[in-house]
Amino acid sequence: MDLIIEKNYEDMSRRAATIIADEIRKKPNLVMALPTGGTPLGTFEELVRMHREKNLDFSSAISFNIDEYVPLKPDNPQSYYYYMNENLYKKTNIKPENTFVPNVLDKDVEKVCREYENNISRCGGLDFILLGIGNDGHIGFNEPDDELFAYTHLANLSESTIKANSRFFSSPDEVPTQAITMGVGTILKAKKIVLIASGENKAAIVNKFLNSSVVTPQLPASFLLLHRNVTVIIDEAAAALHKKTASKTTHYSF
Ligand code: GLP
Repeated sequence: MDLIIEKNYEDMSRRAATIIADEIRKKPNLVMALPTGGTPLGTFEELVRMHREKNLDFSSAISFNIDEYVPLKPDNPQSYYYYMNENLYKKTNIKPENTFVPNVLDKDVEKVCREYENNISRCGGLDFILLGIGNDGHIGFNEPDDELFAYTHLANLSESTIKANSRFFSSPDEVPTQAITMGVGTILKAKKIVLIASGENKAAIVNKFLNSSVVTPQLPASFLLLHRNVTVIIDEAAAALHKKTASKTTHYSF
């Protein structure tokens, strides 16, 4: 796992966007999976800037949402489809038919999950996945539990995640309690993984994750230890509790 500590949120975002842009330039039909939440906003902004100013071409790229709230319609401003569309898709030349989100309106959840996995396989599998991390160590919506699902499934959101995500809603009661999310296996099958985290409120979980040497479903992010191509990009605030804090950009390999 490679760890990159950047000075601040802007540098973290630029670093993540540069990695994604390099992947797209190397393989224009990159199959990527992208997260939502507050953390990736700067990365998406930077990708949009690269599209406008540096001809970064998304015309062959394929994007899968990592997760989606059940049962929000795509035109609901709180839905993750809406989020992706607003923050990235409609500001680049990615083709709408190359953007995927689990169909959370279909009542046949098992079929939807199976189809989502099949769609990923039909596209050749994920080349790249960008991840955030929840305060409880979740990736996608794979919450700490006694066991984790390997593949795309219906997930119940934990109280702490509902509370954390309520900042995007007018009240915690409005936060959906379920989502369809890629499983840990879906994530681990991606050829390259980048995890980003920013800010002091992520320092505790980042520290726990970076110091973990065991894989446990109680810390879903710990499964990333099993992957051979993971880069963790954090800013100094998120690195504050990590013993190897640094004053400028620092790389560690372990
Ligand atoms: C959400 C999403 C995750 C995201 C995480 C962190 O619940 N399902 O994909 O990585 O929370 O979000 P944020 O970046 O807002 O802290």
